[in-house]
Amino acid sequence: MRRSRRAFLALTVAGALVATSACSKDSGGSNEPKVDKVEVMSWWVGPGEADGLNAMIALLKTQHPEITFENSGVAGGAGTNAKAQLATRLAANNPPDSYQRHAGQEIATDIKNGDVEDLTYLYQRNGWNTLFPKGLIDTITSNGKIYSVPVNIHRSNLMWFIPKTLTDLGIAAPPKTWDEFLVQAAAIKAKGKTAISIGPAWTQKHLLENVLLGELGVDKYTGLWNGKTDWTGADVTAALQKYTKIISYSDIASAGADWQPAMDRVIEGAAVYNVMGDWAAAYLKGDKKLTYKDGWNVVNSPGTDGVYNFLSDSFTLPVGAPHKAAAEIWLTLCGSKEGQDAFNPLKGSIPARTDADKSKYTGYLATALTDWTNPSTKVVGSLTHGVVANDAWNAEIDTALGLFVKNGDAAAFGTAVKTSYEKNK
Ligand code: GAL
Repeated sequence: MRRSRRAFLALTVAGALVATSACSKDSGGSNEPKVDKVEVMSWWVGPGEADGLNAMIALLKTQHPEITFENSGVAGGAGTNAKAQLATRLAANNPPDSYQRHAGQEIATDIKNGDVEDLTYLYQRNGWNTLFPKGLIDTITSNGKIYSVPVNIHRSNLMWFIPKTLTDLGIAAPPKTWDEFLVQAAAIKAKGKTAISIGPAWTQKHLLENVLLGELGVDKYTGLWNGKTDWTGADVTAALQKYTKIISYSDIASAGADWQPAMDRVIEGAAVYNVMGDWAAAYLKGDKKLTYKDGWNVVNSPGTDGVYNFLSDSFTLPVGAPHKAAAEIWLTLCGSKEGQDAFNPLKGSIPARTDADKSKYTGYLATALTDWTNPSTKVVGSLTHGVVANDAWNAEIDTALGLFVKNGDAAAFGTAVKTSYEKNK
């Protein structure tokens, strides 16, 4: 069954979110409107991550010179470190004024915990209800209330490479399927190179979600997150075994650091491919000054043509934010056309808003925008970046995956993930 972008967003994510109920939390009584400063927490620090945020900070400074932007960014891809710090602060009732959260099940966890304010009034004030895709708004809505402001749409299912490396190795084109990848990988290994570079645990999960997507297809992949696909079924076990084969051709043994060093191995020609989200475009273009198509290129990860594995970064207003009025100004900028068109071309993402200035999205980003807005594109949600699994389940998947990449026991991993789903759904 083909599923349209809108249908996916409406069915898969929103259904689960609407069932979430927000409980209230003591706001601490310190919410007098202070507009002098806004403290924002994200993980957009360093190469390939910071440029887009800096553009929004500059815009804020121009529009509101009275507000000092306190950048509480915490380095670490996919927010691994930022999320841990944030959890400590939320538990201590010491939130920043706004923080980054993915749309989907990740924000649903905060809504359930009563950590974030209802922002429906900002949507009404700014007319955003008709300016963001309805399906996307549904992923940040619970009981009719909207809880965050999405700044972008990122794509997870991408495979990056350097054309010259392929030419040097006599590879005509990147693989269209993971089986084709394995054939190439054996030849690449024989020539003394790594077929696929990989980074820390979250990048291993990022690869896993896209192997599952490529091997199982849209419907079965979607079913993994709503109980309809059996994690212990033969098809899932086979896909997991394929993942084990794929990572046997990676540099996982020496993996560390973050996604950028893994991408560096591709840039240097030591490794041939890397599966990563399109923030990599910002790194390759902005930091490495390489040219799209000649210097670097990208294709949909094997088996995922016509599919957009999406995620969306959004910003919240935490309950008890000390500078609520300034936070509202920040959030209004995040949701504005000007803000999104300043941020996204540098971030390697496309705007969440539907009325973007298309002329600002060139090269790779033009293709992303075309695919996202193509009604026949099938949209699924990312596991690693918060769309499809709640925080508790996702954390248990991390633990199980840590074991799985070491022991290759696909059946045990499938059983662990299935058990965890039943426990946390
Ligand atoms: C994602 C986030 C992206 C990018 C990436 C790498 O979770 O949504 O914006 O920052 O992590 O850190």
